[in-house]
Amino acid sequence: MGIYLNNAATSWPKPAEVAEAMSKFLLQGGANLARGANSERDLETLNFVLDCRFKLAEFFNGYEDQDPRYITFCANITEALNIVLRGYSDYIAQRRKAVPGMKVLTSSMEHNAVMRPLRFLEQHGVILKVLPCEPDGFLKPEVLERELKFNKYDLMVMSHASNVSGTVQDIERIAEICKLNKLNLVLDTAQTAGVLKLDVKKLNLAALCFTGHKGLMGPQGTGGVVWRPDFAAQVTPIISGGTGSFSHLEYQPEDLPDKFESGTPNLPGIAGLNAALTWLNKVGIDNIKNREHELGEYFLNKIKNFKNLKLSGKQDMTGRLAVFSINFDNYDNGVLADELSRLGFETRPGLHCSPSAHKTLNTFPAGSLRVSLGYFNNFNEIDKFIEALNKILGADN
Ligand code: ALA
Repeated sequence: MGIYLNNAATSWPKPAEVAEAMSKFLLQGGANLARGANSERDLETLNFVLDCRFKLAEFFNGYEDQDPRYITFCANITEALNIVLRGYSDYIAQRRKAVPGMKVLTSSMEHNAVMRPLRFLEQHGVILKVLPCEPDGFLKPEVLERELKFNKYDLMVMSHASNVSGTVQDIERIAEICKLNKLNLVLDTAQTAGVLKLDVKKLNLAALCFTGHKGLMGPQGTGGVVWRPDFAAQVTPIISGGTGSFSHLEYQPEDLPDKFESGTPNLPGIAGLNAALTWLNKVGIDNIKNREHELGEYFLNKIKNFKNLKLSGKQDMTGRLAVFSINFDNYDNGVLADELSRLGFETRPGLHCSPSAHKTLNTFPAGSLRVSLGYFNNFNEIDKFIEALNKILGADN
């Protein structure tokens, strides 16, 4: 078995309980959600899906006393972001009955999960402004403040932390500025949910988008939205269909969670995510954060010894996650990742679906070698990784 250093792509290993819950559902449960009657199996499915909604609402401190209806399950965070961005843009376009419709702000550190839906909308009349971040990936809150002095926007969407450099944004300050300016803030938490504490109410988020398979430790194919009720009421559902409810209606129900959840959901995935959340609550998010911080410090200390190494983003563990983008002079990061794979180390080279972030960090178009640590890594694995780098690069690095 190799050494896994690619937790920003997906966390691995998962707690054993995740696979157990998925397998139990497929082998013993297996009933569809709200598309049966009152058999034991029907009720079991209803129960664990509701339980997972409750856990997510509590985990993110959802609105209306953590009401589980304001949780929408999606296939992944990309779908979640599309539901929010396209749906809100449709609402604005209909309200204004004109192009240009929505005016939206984002940062230059975004992943294509944010950037591509925004560029698509821009091609259809949405006004998009990309706020420049610093070369270490940080968005200075003053940049947002200044922009809002001169222009009015409908929505700001941004990631909490970069999947390339691990740079964590000052989301508390940004949320404050958005609130003062009555600007809807949508947060992409792909890299932070399950690693940093998130409180949708405190941040007054219009929507928090999450993925289930990274820090939340669930399976792939899970993710979702935590909504602010007034915002959810405005967003047009971009997918409509059967919900197992209101079957007399040929129109999409307005009630949540049905409004945004047409079709049979990923029930084995939700069973796994539910088990992952139980595990996460047991371990405690602060312990996870501290462990990753400690591993990050150790990694940074070790890589200081390479004289030809460049680290993108923050140079110490203040304001960053244990997600590191590195480059060595005169060594292609793709070739390096390949050589590391042959020695049993799993990393991710290239552009990480984030061209804009790499441009900001001055690593476009070559990209970087990304090493992303997770809760289950240990110091010994980092030592072995350093040894492998030394072996590949030779003595004078
Ligand atoms: N967005 C994920 C990554 O950064 C998949 O690798």
